[in-house]
This record gives sequence, C-alpha cells and structure tokens, in this order.
Amino acid sequence: MNILVVGGGGREHALIKKLKQSEKVTKIYALPGNGGIAADAECVDIGAKDIPAIVDFAVNNSIDYAVVAPDDPLVLGAVDALEEKGIPCFGPRANAAIIEGSKVFSKNLMKKYGIPTAEYEVFDDMDAALKYLETAPIPTVIKADGLALGKGVIIAQTRDEAKDAVRSMMQDKVFGKSGDHIVIEEFLTGPEVSVLSFTDGKTVVPMISSMDHKRAGDNDTGLNTGGMGTVAPNPYYTEDIAKVCMEKIFRPTVDAMNAEGRSFKGCLYFGLMLTPKGPKVIEYNCRFGDPETQVVLPLLESDLLTIMQATTNGTLAGTEVKFSSKNACCVIMASEGYPTSYEKGYEMTVPDDIADSVYVAGATLKNGKLLTNGGRVLGVTSVADTLEDAIKLSYGKVEKIKFGNAYYRHDIGKRALEAYKE
Ligand code: AMP
Ligand code: GLY
Repeated sequence: MNILVVGGGGREHALIKKLKQSEKVTKIYALPGNGGIAADAECVDIGAKDIPAIVDFAVNNSIDYAVVAPDDPLVLGAVDALEEKGIPCFGPRANAAIIEGSKVFSKNLMKKYGIPTAEYEVFDDMDAALKYLETAPIPTVIKADGLALGKGVIIAQTRDEAKDAVRSMMQDKVFGKSGDHIVIEEFLTGPEVSVLSFTDGKTVVPMISSMDHKRAGDNDTGLNTGGMGTVAPNPYYTEDIAKVCMEKIFRPTVDAMNAEGRSFKGCLYFGLMLTPKGPKVIEYNCRFGDPETQVVLPLLESDLLTIMQATTNGTLAGTEVKFSSKNACCVIMASEGYPTSYEKGYEMTVPDDIADSVYVAGATLKNGKLLTNGGRVLGVTSVADTLEDAIKLSYGKVEKIKFGNAYYRHDIGKRALEAYKE
C-alpha cells in the first residue's frame, strides 16, 4: 500500500518508522517531512496546512491510506477533503477535531455530559472577564479558545497576572482570533498523565500511558515548551485509575461526541490530572501527542497500519492492540534558547548504530548534510525492562549525537523513578 503521512516533526517520524514495520506498506510519502524523515520516507515539499495540494498529491500518486498527524490540518478539514476523493484516512473529520480546536467547545461538552474537568467560565467580553477576576480563586488558569501553538494557556499566580493575561489575549490579540473567546478555569493540582487512545467512534482502546515533561529546564523550571521528553508507562496511572478513567472519561467522551453528531475516529488524546478528587481532563487533543508518540509507539507490538485501518472501518473491537510490558524514555535534544529564540543551520552527526532510536523533529538536508532547523531538533528513545535502564540508554545515546548549540534536560524520567519508590 502507498501511505501518505501529513506532518513533519518527531511525532511523524515515529509514526513513519512504525508504519514501515508493516508488511502491508510498500511506500511512504511525508508531506512535508523533514531532512531526518527523508531517511525513512519520500519527503514532498507540500505544507501540512495546504489541503488542496495534499489532496491533489494523494489523488495523483495512488495513495491507498492517509495519516493526518498534526492538529492544524485536522481542524481545517484535511480528512474531510481526502475522504471526499475516496481516500481512507486516519484522523477525525473537522467536526470532531473541534474537540481540540475549541476549548470552549470541549469545556461545554464535558459540562453537558458530566465528564470531570476543572470548573470554568467562558467569556467573550473583556470587561466581564476582568470583573470576574476580582473575586475568582487564585491561582487561576486562562485559556485562549482556539489553537495557539500550545502557548494559549497561562497559569496566573496573582490577580494582576490574570488580568494581564486576559488583556493580552482579548485586547492585544497575541493569539489572534483564538483570543476572541477565553476560558477562565479552576487551578487543579496533581500528577499529569497523557493517555492516547485509538477509537473508531464505537470502541475506545487506550494506549500505554505516558508522562510528558513540558518545562524547558531541569526540575520543571523555565518556560512551557512543546515537550522536552517523555516516559511510558506513567507510574501514577495505576490499573484502578485506568478503570475510573475508562468509565468516567474515555467512554463518556466517545459517546458524547456521537450524541453531538460528531463521531470521533482516529487518535483521541486525553491530557489528565490525577487530582485529590479523582482524574480530571485538562485537555483533549484530536491527534497523537508529541513527544508522547515517541515513547508509546516503540512499545506497540501490534501492526499500526492494521489498527489505523480498523479505526477508519469501524472494526477496532476485533483488532489486536498489544503493548509490551517494557519501559520507554525519550529525551528531546533542542536548540539552546528554545522555546524563545534560537539559531539554526548547525551540522548534525547521528551515528548509524543509533539512528533507529532517533526521531528527527527539525532538520533539513543540504548537500547531503543534515542541518538543525528548529527549536526541537530530535528525540532519542530507548526501550528497556526497567525505566532506569531506558533512561540510562537514552542519555548514553544523547552523548553520541553532536550539533551546535544542543540543549536537553538532564532529568527526564526522574520524577517517574521517584514515583515508583513512593
Ligand atoms: P495545555 O496547553 O492545555 O496542554 O496546558 C499546558 C499545561 O498547563 C498543562 O500541561 C498543565 O500543566 C497546565 N494546566 C492547564 N490547565 C490547568 C489547570 N486547570 N490547572 C492546573 N494546571 C493546568
Ligand atoms: N505533548 C503534548 C501535546 O502533544 O500536545
């Protein structure tokens, strides 16, 4: 089969490496891919948001199955457009991708169907939001409604900080139209867990749980990033908690989307906080997480393409989805200065014997040389019987990878190791 993967980051590299293991796959195209992905797929210079060009390419290149990985094209309707031309896809249609595309939608969905989440108010008027903040409990959390490159969430420790956040979103429009509507919500505490799931709109099958490390600096200091590393499984996510999540969150979410006429197919990502009052939803994503995918898929023992096709065909209930009982750790190597400003264009060397463990997020190929081309440059994943060994193996590989201004956290997995000892 000819497969098309839309996107060009570390997550897409992980998807492509896993898809390559399928006997059904003859050829994989990545749109646009990147210089590192080029080792595993044919990269075509079409942007992930250029839906007409993606559809044309798929039609002209006999694509049998398309995987739309990033949030933007999903929210913009890439799956709808491909399906219109008869191309089966992995991923939700736009009317279901809204679960990530609009925080107001997802919060109202959870309220309507009794799915546990932080208490909240929605505002489309700045003065009303500022007035509400006079008496709101502090700390508080301000969220822009739409996609904001993962930056649309501000945790305000003081009333003034909260008001500044509201003004920057609603008056200065720092996130553009995403700030027309905002959500102000209760600040929750507890360990965070990412649970990605496969769903065909009827059955929901959670993948192995994982833990992201969002802050730029060691010991969770510094700015929020797209994610500096992950481990799987997440030690806080016990079997008992998994049962509660299935009953109170996963199943009800899939049912709620059906009841709204927005059946969700693809990967539904649950960002959870295990609060003292039980697990609550922090966010939904309509896609695989990045860098969660880089630890979850290496632990998947079943055929990824078969599972993906089952989500499209509605046959997930009869399809094997098996994960290994090992541990995985992914350390992200970034460019110094990420997520603010950083330099690009440094030559990278990745030894051949560890290339299988490397998922490239930001690199270009120039005259046969791989050059850094992004904030997050690559992720290095290892799988081992114990988390401790997976961490050691990944950091051992990180030492062997060289590029200018390389930066990484030194404590990926540390909190998870501590949790095992608690
Ligand atoms: P998001 O961009 O939605 O992934 O949110 C970024 C991060 O903000 C999450 O991973 C949480 O750590 C934090 N966060 C979001 N909402 C809340 C909340 N209601 N209470 C506490 N932390 C939150
Ligand atoms: N790692 C979080 C996300 O993909 O949104």
